[in-house]
Amino acid sequence: MSKLGNNTVARRSIATTTLVVGATGATGSLLLEQLLFAGGQVRAIARSPEKLKDEVRSHPNMKVIRASVLDIPDAEMREHVRGCSAVVSCLGHVMDFKGVYGAPKLLCTDAVCHLCRAIEGNAPADPVRFILMNTVGAANPDIDAQRTLFDRVVLALLRRAIPPHRDNENALQHLHQDVGTSNQYIEWCAVRPDSLTNSEVSQYEILPSPVTGIFSGRPTARANVAHFMAALVSGTALWQQWKFQTPVVMNAIEQN
Ligand SMILES: NC(=O)c1ccc[n+]([C@@H]2O[C@H](COP(=O)([O-])OP(=O)(O)OC[C@H]3O[C@@H](n4cnc5c(N)ncnc54)[C@H](OP(=O)(O)O)[C@@H]3O)[C@@H](O)[C@H]2O)c1
Repeated sequence: MSKLGNNTVARRSIATTTLVVGATGATGSLLLEQLLFAGGQVRAIARSPEKLKDEVRSHPNMKVIRASVLDIPDAEMREHVRGCSAVVSCLGHVMDFKGVYGAPKLLCTDAVCHLCRAIEGNAPADPVRFILMNTVGAANPDIDAQRTLFDRVVLALLRRAIPPHRDNENALQHLHQDVGTSNQYIEWCAVRPDSLTNSEVSQYEILPSPVTGIFSGRPTARANVAHFMAALVSGTALWQQWKFQTPVVMNAIEQN
């Protein structure tokens, strides 16, 4: 178990170029700020760039690409990922009826496949770090402790009834099974927060697999998820520790 939670990792000056999709989202927008604050070059694909803060959109290290990620042709996507040392997906379905039950049902999965194909198409000299914002509800079949019968039933129901849950599982499965651990061009990490909140960066814990039931976990501040992902983008030791893994992020228990 490791604890992070001050800003020292993300404040280190970094020479990275990172492509972010889902950049206008509640977590994606915090990640942009973290990456820019750390001195990195950032590219963001957004269908509505006007949602980004003015100071982010006009930052000299920021390049905004107005597009819907799944509509970008393969050749153009290869240009967007060319020269990037990291690609981060913070995509998530809009939580209304159309977003949950309408197309694209496999938004996260298809975006992961599209981006990975583009990275591989460029055959970069060094592997690109692919960071997927996923969920604690999706399992890492290699290491997750056996879930209780109750949790398994609930997750099976969610898989059938809530397409975004299945999408999150499939996106993780693509990295875990299809990209795997011996891909020449891609190294990956799927970050699994528990229920997200909008509080400030605080102490948080990173665990290899869930230690709580799906309804008994601790909340996770989106700011902490963004902080951890920014640290993964720039950190050497941290990346070596978590690449090809599916770390669970939870706020630390507050000490009185
Ligand atoms: N809610 C939770 O408690 C919880 C817990 C664990 C994990 N998660 C997962 O965490 C991830 C991110 O969560 P979040 O709350 O930060 O997300 P969010 O605020 O809902 O942001 C979602 C992002 O995805 C984009 N997007 C949505 N539909 C799209 C489409 N059809 N085409 C292109 N882009 C699209 C949005 O773009 P626009 O701004 O243009 O709409 C936005 O940038 C999700 O995958 C979610 O499943 C959530």
